[in-house]
Amino acid sequence: MLSIILFMLALISLARYHWNRRRLYYHAWKIGGPFAWPIIGSAYLFIRGHYSYNIVTKLIDSQPPIFKLWIGTKLVILTIQPTHAEVIVKTCFNRLGTKHMEEIFKTGLITAPVDIWRTRRKIINKSFNTKILNSYVDIFDKVARQSMRQFEEKCDGNYIDVLETLSRISFDAVCETLLDVDSSLIDTLQTTTDYPKSPQFVAVVYGFIRILSGDIPLCTKRIIEMKKIESSLYKNCSEDNFDNEKVFINNLINSTEDGELDESGVMDEIQSVFAASETTAITNALVLCMMGLHSNIQKNIQEELDSIFGHSDRTVTLEDVNRMYYLERVIKETMRLFPPVPFIRRSVDEDIELDSHVLPKGSEVYIPLLSLHRRPDFWKDPLVFNPDRFLAQNEAKRPNCSYLPFSRGSKNCIGFKYAMLSMKTMLAIFFKHYEVQSTEYKSIEDVDFWLNIIAYPKTSCKVKLQKLEKKNS
Ligand code: HEM
Repeated sequence: MLSIILFMLALISLARYHWNRRRLYYHAWKIGGPFAWPIIGSAYLFIRGHYSYNIVTKLIDSQPPIFKLWIGTKLVILTIQPTHAEVIVKTCFNRLGTKHMEEIFKTGLITAPVDIWRTRRKIINKSFNTKILNSYVDIFDKVARQSMRQFEEKCDGNYIDVLETLSRISFDAVCETLLDVDSSLIDTLQTTTDYPKSPQFVAVVYGFIRILSGDIPLCTKRIIEMKKIESSLYKNCSEDNFDNEKVFINNLINSTEDGELDESGVMDEIQSVFAASETTAITNALVLCMMGLHSNIQKNIQEELDSIFGHSDRTVTLEDVNRMYYLERVIKETMRLFPPVPFIRRSVDEDIELDSHVLPKGSEVYIPLLSLHRRPDFWKDPLVFNPDRFLAQNEAKRPNCSYLPFSRGSKNCIGFKYAMLSMKTMLAIFFKHYEVQSTEYKSIEDVDFWLNIIAYPKTSCKVKLQKLEKKNS
């Protein structure tokens, strides 16, 4: 008897559960998608290799431009319609925080719920204004030169993995620009802590994730203490201090004094920018790989740099960076094919109407940039590497939001200008001194990724380099 009652109760609660979700089912039913089994939904599609770019792309390509997936009881809607993307980035502000994402980014800007995010974004925006960012060009130049020297002894006809060095450069740049410390200080702090030192400070794939979970939080804590003392010494003694106060770390520390942020918030934001900046290293590495496949395009880059610098090896300036039109198009084309953030993902907190569809409250929406950026109707011969797609006249022919590597709207990438400035400067230093002769990749289709918050190349980014001897006198 008891078991019958329990069974009936379970049945009633199940019926109530489904009744409460009837709107979700109704709107989901109107959207196409692959077959979904009870309980597991379409999760069976991802049992093997769900993190692989190629597998996910095949699935997306086999579906209409907007489709649904039931992942267990979760309704996930994917769209590669630019008009939909425009509405989503303008109206959905809660980014989906997976557990893994929070482990890496804590409650920094990237994962923070909307109310915290608004306050934080306002504070952090001050540190990403154009004037401050422009002053970082000589730092990008310096850190790139320092680390790229390592390439000299590796120009021996063998393939080398460039991602490790480029990761170190991005890391050094964040230390010097946003934390206002020499990155060697972090190495020193690491060696002087009692905590276990990671064997490879900046490792290749997942390197940042590893350092963030270990040594970096300890080092950042010490840096914050140091900066607090420094800022109390500075106070009242310099008129030039205004800009210094806007430097990311000082800005965050000042906000703790104003009560807008607590110390763990400062740590979370620092961890977020460290992790986010890995995207620049991956993009730089893929630019080099692409040049290994397209020597004619590499030649065009070198010609552009020659026209700016001649044979001089002087420091890169903001004016120089602003003249690197072709290099910028190469970077954009690389991010089209390989967007470092592969999905924009948001929770749907209110119903959203998209053409004849409704994204019901309680669902999740993904914009798979990797497929949006390869739609053949917007990108003729999508697998051809063609930087001229980004000439103004060609850009004007494409719909708004058909290219979103940095997303759009108020929740777009706060580091977008920082990223472009740093990548252009670093790549200019590279191409002034080296030439990529070939890459281990045989074609663009050969490049595959592990999909996560960031898309990591599945295999290392290996290229053969040659030093350019005659230039740079
Ligand atoms: C190639 C380089 C980069 C790419 C492609 C990229 C891409 C993106 C994208 C697509 C988003 C938004 C995702 C969404 O709308 O849900 C984002 C957010 C963000 N990015 Fe980047 N990013 C890059 C570099 C950087 C750098 C260098 C920094 C910091 C120095 C940075 C810091 C952030 C932060 C803090 C957010 C969260 C912004 C917010 O929610 O208000 N990113 N990035």
